[in-house]
Amino acid sequence: MKPSVTVNLPQGRSYPIFIGSGLLDDAQFWQAVVANRQAVIITNTTVAPLYADRLRSKLSRAPLLLSIPDGEQYKTLATYQSLLDDLLDQDLDRSSVLIALGGGVVGDLAGFVAATYYRGVDYIQVPTTLLAQVDSAVGGKTAVNHPKGKNLIGSFYQPSHVVIDVATLQSLPQKIFIEGLAEVIKYGIIFDASFFEWLESNAELILKRDFRALQYIIQRSCKIKAEVVQDDETERGRRAILNFGHTFGHALETQTGYGTLLHGEAVSVGMKLAAELSYRLGFIDINVVDRVKRILNLFHLPITCENLDPTQVRAAMSKDKKVIDSKLRFI
Ligand code: NAD
Ligand code: GLY
Repeated sequence: MKPSVTVNLPQGRSYPIFIGSGLLDDAQFWQAVVANRQAVIITNTTVAPLYADRLRSKLSRAPLLLSIPDGEQYKTLATYQSLLDDLLDQDLDRSSVLIALGGGVVGDLAGFVAATYYRGVDYIQVPTTLLAQVDSAVGGKTAVNHPKGKNLIGSFYQPSHVVIDVATLQSLPQKIFIEGLAEVIKYGIIFDASFFEWLESNAELILKRDFRALQYIIQRSCKIKAEVVQDDETERGRRAILNFGHTFGHALETQTGYGTLLHGEAVSVGMKLAAELSYRLGFIDINVVDRVKRILNLFHLPITCENLDPTQVRAAMSKDKKVIDSKLRFI
């Protein structure tokens, strides 16, 4: 099967992204991807009953299934440790392959486990939220949170494949579907004006989860992300543009307590704040700020966050990974 997008990286680390409908049910496809290796499906308690058996039955060698509790608050060193314990208990060796089946929380955690178990085993990202399909499953950032900040412990470790079954988006609650759109809009703002305009004109179709519209926005988003990652895999420079809105967003997530404000919602508020900051610094016109606010409203994304202490938010921002010499940097 021909990949929809390829992430081209040096030293044999390139990988394909497959995007389609029904990929979870395609036994031949999984035979080609996993072959006869021992697979471990890492998922959570919400996604497991929806999709784990469907995937499990397509793998020739019975896979191990590890299911973690659902929620950002479990993206911790404790969950990471318990996954490592399970792998060691089962005597999994380095030829095994991990399959991250779920949203960004499962993907980031399973990726970090893959990066460190026996100093690195193969893993396949099978993202099942829009946010994970357009962003977190691509690019090899793996992490867990720390009480002092989001994603502070992790590594860059690329998957061997990304398999996006667009049909899995049909079971997403609307709020979680919508938060993923924040990252899609981000690509329009930072990279592609005509994509931004297309999103403005097709909001209704997208919100109805029209398959062709979803396939298009996922493919375009993955292509943009691949292009940026290929250019700057470990964020020495250009890759930081993918963090537009995230300096504010991560601090809001930390301050509200992980799991209260969804990641995409925090990024939405953050993009609005970043646009306003740009305006105040004289970099952009007020019309641009208005247009950013308008598209976020169009997709029912939040642009404000109540009851927060600005001093504490500012303190949380000082833990941003873009901080250099104690100076905050914004996109
Ligand atoms: P999530 O993983 O918590 O998933 C959201 C909810 O949807 C969960 O309750 C999950 O169980 C449920 N779910 C998943 N798939 C489902 C499906 N098909 N049907 C029904 N329910 C389903 O959250 P998320 O928004 O996917 O990801 C957010 C995480 O991703 C954050 O931790 C964030 O830091 C991380 N992230 C990482 C990167 C990266 O580059 N690595 C980029 C962006 C975000
Ligand atoms: N989500 C930001 C990045 O992958 O760099």
